[in-house]
Amino acid sequence: MTANEERYDASARPAVRVELGERSYDIRFYWDEPRALVRDLALFCREGAFVVSNPTIWALHGAAFESALAEAGLRYAVELIGDGERFKTLDTAARLYDRLIAERFTRGACIVAFGGGVVGDVAGFVAATFMRGVAFVQVPTTVVAMVDSAVGGKTGVDHPRGKNLIGAFWQPRLVAVDLAYLRTLDQHNLRGGFAEVIKYGMIADAEFFAWLEANLERALALEPESLRHVVRRSCEIKAQVVGADERESGLRAILNYGHTFAHAIESCGQYRERQFHGQAVAIGMVAAAETALRMGMFSRAEAERQRALIERAALPTRVPAELAAQDLLDRMYSDKKVAAGRLRFVLPVRIGEVTLRSDVPPELILDVLRNLGAQ
Ligand SMILES: NC(=O)c1ccc[n+]([C@@H]2O[C@H](COP(=O)([O-])OP(=O)(O)OC[C@H]3O[C@@H](n4cnc5c(N)ncnc54)[C@H](O)[C@@H]3O)[C@@H](O)[C@H]2O)c1
Ligand SMILES: [Zn+2]
Repeated sequence: MTANEERYDASARPAVRVELGERSYDIRFYWDEPRALVRDLALFCREGAFVVSNPTIWALHGAAFESALAEAGLRYAVELIGDGERFKTLDTAARLYDRLIAERFTRGACIVAFGGGVVGDVAGFVAATFMRGVAFVQVPTTVVAMVDSAVGGKTGVDHPRGKNLIGAFWQPRLVAVDLAYLRTLDQHNLRGGFAEVIKYGMIADAEFFAWLEANLERALALEPESLRHVVRRSCEIKAQVVGADERESGLRAILNYGHTFAHAIESCGQYRERQFHGQAVAIGMVAAAETALRMGMFSRAEAERQRALIERAALPTRVPAELAAQDLLDRMYSDKKVAAGRLRFVLPVRIGEVTLRSDVPPELILDVLRNLGAQ
């Protein structure tokens, strides 16, 4: 243990509090500090830690994490699941239950998700259901997991007929974010995650959006202070929205800004691969802004500011030319969330504020999509 770590005081560490009554928890930040992180999560592990990760992440960061676990004197087991959305299944969950039982974990178990959104969603689902629910800690390693999936308590697995059809709300006891993990993340996933970051500025915080305009490149280059501001502010916004609407009855819908278009784009063409989610959201936000513009509720100047920021993140702003506007519109109507045949869009009013609208004419949507490059 270094002198520096001996002086470590968990209460002094910057944290974001997610306020959910007795289910409240902290999001804590670290920079290349596996020992401090493990010491914090050990507080929730009465019976030991059951760590879920995947071979890609574990090859990069497993050794340091494991020696921190050993040093903390914690009983632990590590189970690796396959890398990729196709492993976010009940079969994978079943394997995790088998291992938990084989290792004789009981109700005092703490499940630690060490990875991106796939690991977090399936490990969280197992935590929600094993022994009717055990402690859960998220250690997110992608931008998407840090700013989105690790915060908010949605867990689940996919079904052959659709994504996230099986799941549970289950809040973590701690989200421990070591930003240095992002140093090994590829540019595609890094930038895709920044689409969600830009989304937070658009839906809730004009000042944060302006900060991104001034500092985007520094954050993308993983300059620690800038990166911490980006992830922290994004978490705060998500935490605030989730705190006000834990079970998604109303306000939480604003988190879907750009996503109605994105889901349609994702269900067609090259974007079908789930790895393009952030890229599809980027196009979706441009489409939402254009829609709002035509509805007379948003300004051209602000739509251009959004587009410029998305372009600087090297994210796409046009609909792939092989997609047909009518197909995309049909997909939007067939989405499971369409209530009574009325499409509901999250549209910007100004940068930092969005509103829900279910009165957008379908012809206007078709026109927006064609103008952005669809057939
Ligand atoms: N629960 C929620 O609220 C919520 C919200 C958003 C997304 N999600 C889910 O999250 C999933 C997407 O998450 P994701 O984008 O993190 O994808 P992911 O978990 O598939 O990770 C992306 C890739 O990066 C690799 N990786 C992870 N961390 C790394 C690191 N530090 N260095 C190098 N490589 C690393 C992974 O092995 C994977 O190949 C989807 O299943 C989606 O449904 C859930
Ligand atoms: Zn998203």
